Amino acid sequence: MKILGIETSCDETAAAVVLDGREIVSNVVVSQIDIFAEYGGVIPEVAARSHLEVVLPVINKALSDAGCSWDEIDAIAVTHAPGLLGSLLIGTLTARTLAILHNKPLYAVHHLKSHVYANWVSSEKSSTLEPGHPPVFTGDALCRGQLDHGEHALESEDFSGNLPTFPLLALVVSGGHTQILYMSGHNQFEIVGTTVDDAVGECFDKVAKILGLPYPGGPSIAKAAEKGDANKYRFPHPKIKGLDFSFSGLKTAVLRTVQKEVNVPISCPSFQLKELLSEKQVCDFAASFQKTAVDILVEKINLALQKYPDVRSVVVAGGVSANKELRKALPEAFFPAPFLSGDNGAMVGAAAYYEIKSGVKPTEPYSLNIYPRISIES
Ligand code: KG4
Ligand code: ZN
Repeated sequence: MKILGIETSCDETAAAVVLDGREIVSNVVVSQIDIFAEYGGVIPEVAARSHLEVVLPVINKALSDAGCSWDEIDAIAVTHAPGLLGSLLIGTLTARTLAILHNKPLYAVHHLKSHVYANWVSSEKSSTLEPGHPPVFTGDALCRGQLDHGEHALESEDFSGNLPTFPLLALVVSGGHTQILYMSGHNQFEIVGTTVDDAVGECFDKVAKILGLPYPGGPSIAKAAEKGDANKYRFPHPKIKGLDFSFSGLKTAVLRTVQKEVNVPISCPSFQLKELLSEKQVCDFAASFQKTAVDILVEKINLALQKYPDVRSVVVAGGVSANKELRKALPEAFFPAPFLSGDNGAMVGAAAYYEIKSGVKPTEPYSLNIYPRISIES
């Protein structure tokens, strides 16, 4: 079964053709990173306009890269929740229109489900591709956004070997969410832990801002951390019980330590601090913060494993799953291929495939709605 997956929930416009939920036939991702790097964060209105500009060319490219006509597409899947309202509207309205026009069943997929199912997608070359054809395609000059994941596109690592086994725990770590999900089987999600304030990706982004590192913060912190001493500064772990998370205290702890380090009062605004920090201090703060964030995630997943001794696999999902230190710290967990850690259409196609296998019926294209904040359990 070939599914066209469409993803526009935040600042990536993405489309992919996925075969049987596992094989990438084509995968086009256009990121708006270079636009938002100027502002230091995503501006929802600008993101929506940018999706509007590129969504159809991105879908066309996914189909042409796949060498697929519309006749060969069995279903369309699109992210309808959660995410930025305007961004979700562009993707869903496009998918609705295409489903009606080409008479295809339409599946509405929750974004976090898609991130989890990135772990089922193989990074191996699809057998339907010509020999020598790269497994992943990024958009090109047709879009003004920076092309993301390109450098990972040809990584030869084989993520296709064994698959996660149920019951499993999914550690979802993205820009908007930090959750531990218990999955008893395909398409069965129970939230067993969640953040009470900031998401871990958000915390990376905010700490990067304090340190004067460019948006998005996760990759910038990771890069600066490579040259830093992770034991230079100590930050306390949140005292939150059970499997829930809290990251706003860590962000404040970094802020206060930076202020102390550069001898300014706590009233000094955070945007003034970067000029007072040396490159070495920035790298040491980045490394020490990253270590603490990773330690907190590992601590919670270990606690979850104690609480759920029947669990047979751990999968990590969402943008922060690209983090190399997190990958090192959880060597037995499943991680998506690095180019599938961030937002992409392949994971949407994969999630829809497993929804279909679990008996989920297509949605009505004339009335499909968006839900910017809905939980994965609903
Ligand atoms: O899943 P995602 O692409 O979008 C959402 O659904 O939110 O996640 C984006 C988040 C951002 O906060 C970004 O800073 C973070 O993932 N991120 C990373 C890394 N790459 C992206 N965080 C830590 N280390 C990375 N290498
Ligand atoms: Zn995401």
